[in-house]
Amino acid sequence: MSEINENLLMSSSINLLYDGMVVQDDIFDFGGDRLLVRNGTLINDIQIERIKRLNSGNESIYVTGRTHKAMLSKRPDIEIKSRSEVEEATGYTVFKDEALKRLEEIAAKQTVDMDSLQIFSDDLANHLESTPPEVIIFLLNAMAPVDEYLQRHSVNVGLLNGLIGRWMGMSKNEADKLILIGLLHDCGKILIPTKILNAPRRLTTVEFEVIKKHSAFTFDLMSEFPEPVRNAAGDHHERLNGAGYTHHLNDEKISLEARITAVSDSYDAMVSQRSYKGPQSPFSVLAQLSDIGRIGFDQDVVETLIKNMPQELLNKPVMMSDGTIGIITKYHPDDIGYPMVSMGGKIIKTNSDLYIVSMFNDD
Ligand SMILES: [Fe+2]
Repeated sequence: MSEINENLLMSSSINLLYDGMVVQDDIFDFGGDRLLVRNGTLINDIQIERIKRLNSGNESIYVTGRTHKAMLSKRPDIEIKSRSEVEEATGYTVFKDEALKRLEEIAAKQTVDMDSLQIFSDDLANHLESTPPEVIIFLLNAMAPVDEYLQRHSVNVGLLNGLIGRWMGMSKNEADKLILIGLLHDCGKILIPTKILNAPRRLTTVEFEVIKKHSAFTFDLMSEFPEPVRNAAGDHHERLNGAGYTHHLNDEKISLEARITAVSDSYDAMVSQRSYKGPQSPFSVLAQLSDIGRIGFDQDVVETLIKNMPQELLNKPVMMSDGTIGIITKYHPDDIGYPMVSMGGKIIKTNSDLYIVSMFNDD
């Protein structure tokens, strides 16, 4: 998924050079034209000091995309994790495969079996309990295959609901209920034709009306569940200003569980890559939710997310809009859309021209 061109020269940081590194391609100085190190050279600390002198104290050097990636992944303090490896190692793969199986079962039986879904949801709750939030957040924000959207989205909204519940200080029981609601909120989509669900284009008005039926389908399919749980899942597209669907509920008529699920659902949909749109960075999504939040989303929930999620993203690599990789160094909650990023040895404030496209997960 990396969009770095491995053969092209790009600006990188001299601080990424490390003792014991074998230089794969020639490295050039800050101006890009003076050769600093020839390919095949094994460099050590003394040589790194020499290279720094030759580069006249500049932090930026020019290397190939291949060298830049190698340097990033070897630096002990900048670990690049591959999404698929982390998914395998943490058991996420099992959950998303299981979610697909459950969704297919729901479609076949035209109902959600409460007991078996409760067991699945409890397993997911235990998974959340035993996995560091940093890892969960990495998985939530990593670019994933488009064709596995529904099962991933179901698991992700369950996990994010659980995290938000925990961050809001809820009891384990309450947070676990949120996980179940998140897991099932979009199960009604299994009754929507895939042709419409995965259309690689803007939907027509008629098609959108068909899609909008899914939250009522979720409610119908969950007939075995207690009313508050069923309502919370079915109300995840209601908005505080009454502009949502299916019942155009507003304010306190929408339960806290439904409001939390609305935020988790929108967050995951916005960071995800879909057949009709690219991924967005967590920072951009948080900024948009707090903007949209003034009219539709519960601001306490959005603020909880802004207070807790970005700190787990510090020092993580991101894909920038110019195709290079940056490292998130700092952010301000009041300007969450544009954090500071280290790029090619310089710390820059991101902006509408040079911004984070997505998290970099090297898959
Ligand atoms: Fe939905």
